Formats: sequence, C-alpha cells, structure tokens
Amino acid sequence: MADPVSRRRLLAGGALAVGGAALAGAAAGSALAAPAETAPVPLGSATEPFWGPHQAGIATRPQAHAVFLALDLGPGVDRAAVVRLMRLLTDDAARLTQGRPALGDTEPELAAQPARLTVTFGFGPGLFRAAGLPSPVAPLPAFGIDRLEDRWSGGDLLVQVCADDQLTVAHAHRMLVKDARPFGTVRFGQHGFRRAAGAGPVGATQRNVLGQLDGTANPAGDSTDFGAAVWIADGPMAGGTTLVLRRIRAELEAWDAVDRAGKEFAVGRRLDSGAPLTGTFEHDTPDLTARDALGFPVIADGAHVRRARTTEPGARIYRRPYNYDGPAGPDGRPDSGLVFASYQRDVAGQYLPIQRRLAEADLLNEWTTPIGSGVYAIPPGAEPGRYVGHQLLES
Ligand code: HEM
Repeated sequence: MADPVSRRRLLAGGALAVGGAALAGAAAGSALAAPAETAPVPLGSATEPFWGPHQAGIATRPQAHAVFLALDLGPGVDRAAVVRLMRLLTDDAARLTQGRPALGDTEPELAAQPARLTVTFGFGPGLFRAAGLPSPVAPLPAFGIDRLEDRWSGGDLLVQVCADDQLTVAHAHRMLVKDARPFGTVRFGQHGFRRAAGAGPVGATQRNVLGQLDGTANPAGDSTDFGAAVWIADGPMAGGTTLVLRRIRAELEAWDAVDRAGKEFAVGRRLDSGAPLTGTFEHDTPDLTARDALGFPVIADGAHVRRARTTEPGARIYRRPYNYDGPAGPDGRPDSGLVFASYQRDVAGQYLPIQRRLAEADLLNEWTTPIGSGVYAIPPGAEPGRYVGHQLLES
C-alpha cells in the first residue's frame, strides 16, 4: 500500500507546480496548501467600479442579465427636479453596485451580492426638454423595415441595469423604480439575457437566439479602436457616448425552416465557428472581393456582414446586445429576439449609415423585425460626491 503521507506530498508538489507563486507563498508553512486560499472570488461578490470618467456597463465585459428601464418624466418635472432625481439614483447605483443597500432599502440582504452589477443612465430628448436644454440626441428616422410599437420605444430617462445574477438585477431595478416613481412613470422594462456567467470561457463571443456567434467584429473593450468609436472627446458629453436601443423580434419559426447553408449565406459567416465564408477561423477578416467558381461573390451582396461592415475605426459601432425570450403570444408563436444595444460617439455619423444599408438590403431582414427604438445620450461618468449628468444639467 502506498504511503499516504508521501502521496499527499506528491499532490501538494503537483499543485505547487501548477499554482505558481501565490500558492507557493501560501504553502510555504505547510506541505499541504489549503485549497480555499486560491479559490476564485465567488461570482456574487464580484464588483465593477461605479465612479470614473466613463459610466460602467459599456466597456464592462457583458454580464449575463440585463434590464433596460425607460421612464417618462411627470408633467411638473423641471431641471431642478431632474437634478434631484439624478442625485438620488446616482446614490442608489453607487451603493448597490458595491454590494451595499440603497438608502431605505427594505431588503438589504438582496444587495449583498452585487455580481458585477452596473447601472448606466441615458438621457432621452424628453429629459433635455424638461431641463430646458438642447438635446444632443433625436429618435432615429423611420425605416421601411420598422414595425415600431410605442410600448417599446422612446422614454425620457433610460436606466440600463446589468449583473451576472438575475435576482441582483431584479432588486436594483426595483430600488431604482421605487426612487424614481415620484418623478415619473415606467414606460418599459426590457429584460435580456446572455449565457450564464461561467457557462463558457471568459470573453468568448456569445450566441444569440438565432444560434449565431454575435459580437465577433466588435472593437475590443480595452482597445484604442473602442475609444475612437465610443467615447465622445469634448464638450459637456466628454467621456460619454450615445445608445441606440432597438427591440428586434426574430421570426424564429420562419428561421427554423431555413437550412444551415441558407442561414450562413444570409449573414456571410458560418454558424459553428463564426468564421467568415471566405475564412477558417472566427476572427479571420472577411474577404469581400472573393468570388466562387461561377463568379458570384462568396459573401453575398445582401449578406449582413457585408452590409454592416465599416473598417474606419471612428465610424464603427460597439454592439452589446441581449437576447429576449418572452411568453408565446396569443397565436402560440415564440416571442424572441434581441434587445439590440449599440454605443457610438455620433449616431448620425456612425450608426445611421449602417442602419440605412441594412434597412435597404440586408438578407437578415427576412427573419428580423424592429419593434422598438430609442436613442439616448449617455452622460460621462461621475466622481465621488457628484451625480451622473451634472456636466450637462449644470451647463
Ligand atoms: C436581430 C438583429 C441582428 C442580428 C441577429 C445580427 C447578427 C449579427 C451577426 C451574427 C453578425 C456577425 C458576427 C459579428 O461580427 O458579430 C453581425 C455583425 C454585425 N452587425 Fe448585426 N445583427 C442584427 C442587427 C444589427 C443592427 C440593427 C446593426 C446596426 C445597425 C448591426 C450591425 C452589425 C455590425 C456593424 C456587424 C459587424 C460587421 C463586420 O464588421 O463584420 N446588426 N450581426
């Protein structure tokens, strides 16, 4: 029979070889390192910073759950009231994102696991109107593909709440609505999800409800391309951005009837690897000039990636979409799709040209229908002691 002590030593030695310097330090006093000393931070305790030059929830690695809450301000709400509202909501967000209860939180235990909670505020044109300020944003023009419903569109104040735990999102959402209630009414709350945290490798591209890898060609969150595409450089919005939020229904029963080749043709990428039809790996650059043996473009003229593609860094957008999957409608059909969120410095210069090309001839239009739309200015982040939006509301 093997000596248990030497077997334990052997195991500890193996762990040291794998665990590196931190474990070596922890194990110095004993041949057996306690596994707890190297355990990762539990998902519920992880936090994202709240204060800083940019609001969190944009460059932040997307969390698994989200709600996009839109509020309509009440008739008597003026600039002073908007300031009071933003002071209150900023304080809630600063506390909740760090795992502390909001003031007057009736269920403080629910705040204890922030799970990378972020709360991001966006101002719609109506908020600027109420504050007597010119609006830097306007609704998108109408597109032929749109079937917009009021209940999913617009809103004066947009609050994006994201976390890796659904209960955390629900609690933060509830606290924010409670504090905002004296100032207005809820217009919508759009819930979205991505893969559960830990379901796959960190940073891997997510899949949407249509089964596609969605996000491949995004500028990376920490790259200079991201900064050039997303953050506004000067003026009271410096460090801020804009959000275009589109609720896009996926006609899943019609999509189910298409074969894989047809689905890949519509996008110009493969379903399994996400590689462009002209390449092998997910991050290969699509070759838009490649032709097949018959002389047809390999990536079709109407393929989504051809229509959407922009290579100039400052003209790109950053997509951070969530899936939605509601209960079937009265006709029994699935109610699924994307809560499509796009961030860019300049809606007219970056988002609109892409949206126009897509509305004109994107093959995906056959299976997707925009049913909601809103455009919001995302103010810069705030320093401790200030509130989100002070740069605009005090200008
Ligand atoms: C339900 C609607 C949509 C679906 C299912 C969808 C799906 C996809 C997929 C699968 C890709 C390829 C992988 C990737 O790079 O992410 C892609 C790329 C892209 N999409 Fe969409 N998309 C939708 C709507 C939109 C909208 C509304 C816009 C903007 C107006 C947009 C802009 C882009 C851009 C810019 C790319 C990257 C193109 C490139 O540079 O290769 N998409 N989309």
